[in-house]
Formats: sequence, structure tokens, C-alpha cells
Amino acid sequence: MNRRNILLATLVLTILAFSCTVKNKQQPTSEPATSYYTEKYRPQFHFTPDSMWMNDPNGMVYYEGEYHLFYQYYPDSTIWGPMHWGHAVSNDMVHWEHLPIAIYPDEHGYIFSGSAVVDWNNTSGLGKDGQPPLIAIFTYHEPSGEKAGEIDFQTQGLAFSNDKGRTWTKYDEPVLKNPGIKDFRDPKVIWNKDSKKWIMTLAVQDHIEFYSSPNLIDWTRESGFGKELGAHGGVWECPDLFQMNVEGSDEKRWVLLVSINPGGPNGGSATQYFVGNFDGNKFTTSQKETKWIDSGRDNYAGVTWSDIPDSDGRRLFIGWMSNWSYATVVPTEKWRSAITIPRELILEKSENNYILASVPVDELKTLRSENVELQAQVISGKVEMDTKQIQISRSEMNFQFKLSNESQFGLPEEFGITLSNEKGEVFNIGYSIQDGTFYTDRTNAGNNSFSNNFSGIHKAEYKPDENMEIRLFVDEASVEVFVDNGKLVMTDIVFPSTPYSKLILFSTNGNVKLQGAEIWSLKSIW
Ligand code: FRU
Repeated sequence: MNRRNILLATLVLTILAFSCTVKNKQQPTSEPATSYYTEKYRPQFHFTPDSMWMNDPNGMVYYEGEYHLFYQYYPDSTIWGPMHWGHAVSNDMVHWEHLPIAIYPDEHGYIFSGSAVVDWNNTSGLGKDGQPPLIAIFTYHEPSGEKAGEIDFQTQGLAFSNDKGRTWTKYDEPVLKNPGIKDFRDPKVIWNKDSKKWIMTLAVQDHIEFYSSPNLIDWTRESGFGKELGAHGGVWECPDLFQMNVEGSDEKRWVLLVSINPGGPNGGSATQYFVGNFDGNKFTTSQKETKWIDSGRDNYAGVTWSDIPDSDGRRLFIGWMSNWSYATVVPTEKWRSAITIPRELILEKSENNYILASVPVDELKTLRSENVELQAQVISGKVEMDTKQIQISRSEMNFQFKLSNESQFGLPEEFGITLSNEKGEVFNIGYSIQDGTFYTDRTNAGNNSFSNNFSGIHKAEYKPDENMEIRLFVDEASVEVFVDNGKLVMTDIVFPSTPYSKLILFSTNGNVKLQGAEIWSLKSIW
């Protein structure tokens, strides 16, 4: 029997486990009185545009208590088109206020992805009344040049704001011309305090180019990186470069994020990373293997916030929760795409191996509502949990499993978690002890008829120790999985025909011990 048949057969034999403790007996959150943001598949605690097309997050910068989120936006259609920068602000990265479109296309082209910084010392001279300007640096994509078969149609442009990002003025001419390379885009700018220069990290076809500048306007090429390293199954896009402390030590390393499309580990778009050093001129690394920030299918073009105060100290990341393999055809009607939950990146080192872990930010805890605890129990076969009090389709779950061989039956071939609905659709999250792989399986998770590229099982090699913690965020049409404090992450979108309402734990051909679990309904942010 294949996995799907096993699941269907065993679902019928599901046993209801009564071994949970209700901590809070409120009923599931009732639907809001208004119909705002209640369409089918509308995420309730993820950022989505009110309507129309969105892709990459752009220009994330923190200034005067506000987290800014700009994003690739096409206001005239739910399919990609002439790009603008949409805009929203938040004071906690969780609750968002929509603002008017920040940057419109012009005679130099569409406004593609890029970054924003606070120019604290007014190196650009674009500040006003003693206040530092916000500077956005983005790619101009000139469509008629592209149509005419030219290759120099992508340049880097600049816009500035003197009113906390509410209005933007463009610099007349692009600040970085195209040297004759077709894919030349997605500038991410940082202030390098060692060389006292701005550094621009740019994705150029199959590698990265670094530029430096004293004033954000005049740029000089420093070096290239990566032609021979990492994954090369597609074009490199949306890079990021930042320094991090290695967790629990004084060691500092530089991390380079590079999105790639196609060529991801499970098909289509994905984001790889390199850990190494940057000396103001060159990025170097001894890393041999390709590493991915997320092994699911739906976390792309993610980058980190600029200008997070030292007193906070976190490296904060979000990505676009979709994949170019099917992004334009997913079955949402009014809008397309969402942004991942915000995550803190943590650089860990064990036996000379660096891992860039992603952990949901603590601010998300403010969304927690009704709560259920599952008690320790042995899971054998399929066991449905009693979670009536919880709205599974909008929830956070935190499971602790123990993998030691305590029972007479021995360790299972695999174990995990199934989200299911009235229609019997199942999204499976599991660990195969046999294969040493963690997986998510959306082959029977709901509607997947809109694209041949959507259905599938996503896998990543993983070696846990005796315990495994699995943390999930479920939000109507997405599941984000964080294993062992984000050492492994899988982000996937799903389109169940009715919302997931059941939680089933499973263990195949052997037993696994659930040490405990805590589950919360999450409040809507809209
Ligand atoms: C990544 C990307 C970027 C580009 C933008 C265009 O998803 O292809 O390279 O700037 O989207 O919308």
C-alpha cells in the first residue's frame, strides 16, 4: 500500500484520545462581525495585501518604532505585472496597517526588489531639518529594453523619504548603471562599520557582486562571489549579507542569503545560505555543501530587517510564502500571496558546522487564545487528539516527542502529525526514522488541481537527538513547521476544501512517545 492508502485506511480506525487537559474552556473564537479579510483561504495572522498581486518583501527597515514592510505589488491584477512597491507598517511585525503604494514605476522601468536603510549620518545629503532620510535602493526593470532583446535593462535606482516613509522622491537617474548583464538586480544595502562604507550586495545571474559607496549614490565594484559554489539550478536573486554572533560564543561570522529560482531542494524557488567572512571587499567561505534556510516549498526571496536597534539585537527575517512554480495560479480570488511569519535567525555551531536556525518571533505569542495541553502518552498507529476547544485552522502547536526505544514494540518507521478536515483531506508532517528524513506531504491536502507542480512530498535530511520538538503555525492556507528550535524549517501553503479541524498523531510500525504538547487557537490580526 502506498502512503496515501495507508493514511486513508487507518483514518477510518482512528481512536479518539481523551487524554488531554482543557486549560481554558472558552469556545473557539467566533467569526468577526464584518466580512473584512474573511474570504476563503485568507490568512488571519499573516500579512496579505488587501487585494491584487504581491511577491517579494522589500525595503524592510525599522525606524522610530515602526517596522516597515514594502513589497512587490501589482495593483491592477492578481497576476504579476508592472511592479510597484506596496507598503505597510507595524509596531510588532504581527499587526499591520496598510499604507498607500510607496513607489510607482516610471520612465526607467518597473520597481523591482530592493532594500531600505536609515541614513543616520546623512551621507547622501538627502536628509532634511536635521532628520536622517530613509533611503530605498531598488532595481529598475525597463520592459521595452527587455522586449527588444537588449541585455542592459536592469539598473539600480534610489528614492528617499523625509517623512517616516509616507512619501518618496526618486533620484533623477539610476545610481548604478548596467554593465551589460541581463540579470542584475535586487540590491541589499548595509552599513559596514569596519570599512565605514555602504555595501550593496547584488544578484547577478549566477553569482553575487559586492559594491561599496561612501554616500549611497556613487558605487564602486568590490568583488564577485559564488560562481563555483552553492546551488546553480536557476538564476540567483534577492541576496542579503549580515554579520552574526555565533550562539553561545564570542565568534562572529558573516551570513550571505541567496534566493534561487528554480533549483530549490524540493523544486522551484528556495533560499540558500553561506556562512563565512566579509572583509569589506570580499566574501569568503570554507562551506562545501549547499544549505537551505527552509526546506519547504513556500519561503522565497526572504531577507532581514535593516536598522533593528542594538538594544534589540535580533536578526529578523521574513519571506514570500509562495513559489514561482505555481504562484500565479493558486486558488485565491481577491489577492495572491502572503508573507511568512516573522522569524529570528540564530547562527548555531556544532562540530565546526554552522546552521542558520529560524525561530518564530516572541511577538507572535500575543496572538495566543484558547489553549489545550496534551498529556504524555505513547502513540501507536493513528490517534486523534481531542482538540474541540481549538480552532485548528488558525493555531500554534508545540509537540515534544521522545525517540528512545522504550517500548516493547521498538521505534516506528516513521511518526508525525496529520492535519485533517471533514472531507478527509490530510496534510502530513513526519519524520522517517528509517530514511533519516523529515517531510511534509501535501499530495492529499486539498485542492492541487491548479498546477502540476504543486502536489508533492517535501523532504530534508535530518538527524535529531533523542528528543524532537515540532512547532507548527497553521493559518487557513499555510503550515510553517519549526523543528528543534528552528534547526530545520518547512513552510508550505495548502488549499483544503474546508478548513482543517482535526489533529491526528501517528506512528507507523512501532511506537513513539509524546512527552507533551501545548496547542493554542490564534487570534486574527485583521
Ligand atoms: C524574485 C524576483 C526578483 C525581482 C522580483 C520581480 O521573486 O524575481 O528577482 O526583483 O521578483 O518582481
